[in-house]
This record gives sequence, structure tokens and C-alpha cells, in this order.
Amino acid sequence: MKIARFSRIGFILAAAGSAVGLGNIWKFPYIAGEYGGGAFVLVYLLTVLLIGFSIMIAEMLIGYLGRKDTVTSFEKLAPKNKKLWKLGGFQGLAGLFIMIFYSVVIGWIFNYIVTSLIALPTTVKEAESTFNAMLHSDFTTQMLYHTLAFICITYVLNRGIKGGIEKMNMILMPSLMIILAGMFAYATTLGAFTQAVSFMFSPDWAKIDSDAFVTAVGHAFFTLSLGMGSIMTYSASLEKDSNIVKNAFWVVFLDTTIAIVAGLMLFTFLYEYGSAPAKGPGLVFISLPAVFYEMGILGNVFAVLFFVALAFAGLTSSVSLVEPMVQYFIDRFSWSRLKSSISMGLFFWLFGIIAILSNIDGFKESLTWGGKNFFDWVDYVTAAIMLPLGGLIMAVFVGFIIPKSQVESVMKPHLGWAFEIWLFSLRYITPVAMFVVMLSLIGVI
Ligand code: PHE
Ligand code: NA
Repeated sequence: MKIARFSRIGFILAAAGSAVGLGNIWKFPYIAGEYGGGAFVLVYLLTVLLIGFSIMIAEMLIGYLGRKDTVTSFEKLAPKNKKLWKLGGFQGLAGLFIMIFYSVVIGWIFNYIVTSLIALPTTVKEAESTFNAMLHSDFTTQMLYHTLAFICITYVLNRGIKGGIEKMNMILMPSLMIILAGMFAYATTLGAFTQAVSFMFSPDWAKIDSDAFVTAVGHAFFTLSLGMGSIMTYSASLEKDSNIVKNAFWVVFLDTTIAIVAGLMLFTFLYEYGSAPAKGPGLVFISLPAVFYEMGILGNVFAVLFFVALAFAGLTSSVSLVEPMVQYFIDRFSWSRLKSSISMGLFFWLFGIIAILSNIDGFKESLTWGGKNFFDWVDYVTAAIMLPLGGLIMAVFVGFIIPKSQVESVMKPHLGWAFEIWLFSLRYITPVAMFVVMLSLIGVI
């Protein structure tokens, strides 16, 4: 059987499609807002450069050398203690867990595409009550769109690397970039643009505490799709003789640029049209629709385009979140792609229903433990424990376990003098950073 491999551009778009997601457009602007902008953005950029980029290369390398599902790749590359290292491959589970709430949020976005086509809320207050009504009492709508997300994602996964994942990204990613570029160009013509620039880039160091630092590191991982086997699984389908460093660079570059562009654009609109930026997840679902209303007819067009772009970003990330486990059951248990895609899809669909219920009045009470509902718990456990753990394991695995000669023979030609710096970051900087992040997120320090 001929093995399907990504084309060069297909891989970059698929990996960038994985990276560019709700994290960039929904999460980044609101956490940047919460931590006061500039200084936080700088810490985040430094983390991306010093840690994210090294781990991106390491994760690509494991997939590229392993050529199989994540579990098999770890097993294959560990010179000894294979049974133990194999466990590292189960980081793919994190993606499946993330999908539990990711799919629900994509459902909200679908709903917002439809409601933006009909009518926008006229005030922030109205936008807020619309959002809360959906979140806390409209089970049917959330269920409908969550199911639609499940169908789209499972359909693409079933079509495989070439005809599904690559094709989807070749269409959706350029569309997404065109939409954002167009809206960003408009934002630069508005007076508030300079205000947005200074908010994002002039650092207020007083706002940077250890909490902001940990959030920045955690977000850098989430936004670059690291530590969940997604990039690793895609890299198993790279052509021989691929330049991993170049690929990693493009993915990091696109993800970072799109986050900054989205942030500048959103804050420009918010400042220009006088709505106080909502802090928290409501930024996109509450403040923004009201701002689009203020913009008049152009705002209506922008609203639809914006939520379409957000849906594209979310869907391309989703397939990468589920693909590691789909590939796992295909490689290890000889499941057909159809069976594997549907089973993994059903998993996040079913638990997604619980995530929806955990926000619904009357149900949420029994689905809340220790101040967090099921939805928030999934977010927390994946971000606080699974993700940094995945990063830690990969850094140690590439830094110390795979024989240095093997790593060197592949990476040295592309990295040159930077090879030793990269290895140093994997061996010492990243593990320490991951450890600190984990401890502080769990609340130990
Ligand atoms: N990077 C995606 C985002 O920014 C989320 C994601 C994480 C996707 C891990 C795949 C793997 O939204
Ligand atoms: Na991202």
C-alpha cells in the first residue's frame, strides 16, 4: 500500500492549521487583556522563541524519525526501556480531552455565524444576555451545533491525511488568512489603531507576576499545539529529507503573526467603537458582536466573516487534536480509518454533551466540583497537567534518550552552529520551565 505523505506546502499549512486555532483568536486577546497587554505579550513572545520553537522542532523530529503513531514512535526511538517510554506517546489523549470543550466552543461559533446573519445585538448588555441565555439555558442549540462540529471533524478525519486533512487545510487556511488580512487592513485605517498598538506592545512590568508568567508559558504551548501528539502525528507523514527547522519556523511564525494580528484588530475595534473590552472568554462572544453592530452595515459583513474565520481556525485545529488517537488505533490495532475516526469522534461528542450540561441551569450544580464545572475541569487538567507533562517528556526524550549521534545526524545539517543551543534549551531550559509551570498550576508553589 502506498503511504500518503503531505506535500511540502500541505504539511506547513496542516501544521499551521493545527497551531492557529481558538487559542489565537479567542484566547490570546482576552488573556493579553487580563494581564494588561504589553509586558505579558513580551513574556509570551520570549517563551515562544526560547522554548516553543525548540519543542516544536523536537516534536517534529520524533514524528519524522518514528514514522508511526505517537506510541509506536516513542517505542521505536527509545534505545532501551521501551515499555516505559512508550507511555510518552499517550500524550495524544490530551488532544481528545481538549476536544470535549473545543467542539462545544466551535458549536457556539457556528451558532454565532447564523445569528450574525440574522441580527446583531444592539448593546453590550443585550449581547451579554444573549450569550448567557445560550450558555445556561439553551441545551438544544448547543447540542445541535456541537453535533454539526462532530460531523465535520469526523468526516475529514475519515478521508485521511491527503484527501481529508491536507485538502481541508489547503482551502481553509488561505481563506482564513485572507479574511483576517482584510479586516486587519481596515483596522489600520481607524484612529484607535495606535491605541491598540500601544496596549499590546508597551509593557507595564508591574502587571507581570508569577501567575502571568505561568499563563504565558502555558499559552505558548497550547497555541503552538505542543505536547499533545498533534504535530508529532502530522510529522510522521512528512516526506523524506524534509527540513524540519524550516517547517517549524513557518508554523511558529504563522501562529504568532496571526495571534498578534487578531489581537491588534480586536482591540482596535473595541477602542474605536467605545466598548470596554470584556475581560475573559466573553470578549469574542459578548463585546465583539455589540461592536460589530456599532460599525453599521460593514459590521454585519465583518461579523459573519469573523465568525467564519474563527470556525475555520477551530476546525483545522480539531482534526489535529483527534488525529493522534485515530492514528494510534489504526497502527496498533489495525482498525480501519472509518472505525477509528467514528469511535474517537463519538468519544468527544458524548463527553461534549456533559460539558454542555455542566453549563446548563439545573444540571450544572451536580456537574461542578471544587468551584469548577466539568467544562472548566477538562480545560484545567489538560492545560495544567497533561500539556506541560507532554512537553517535559519530549524535551527529555530528545535531549537525553534518543542517542545524540542520531539526533545530530538529522538536525546538525539544518541547525548548524545553533544545534548546541537547541540541545541546551531542550536539556535544561525547557524541563525546568515545564516543571515550574506544572507545580504552580497545580497549586504546589
Ligand atoms: N493550537 C490550537 C489553538 O491555538 C489548539 C491545539 C492544541 C490544537 C493542541 C492541537 C493541539 O487553538
Ligand atoms: Na494557536
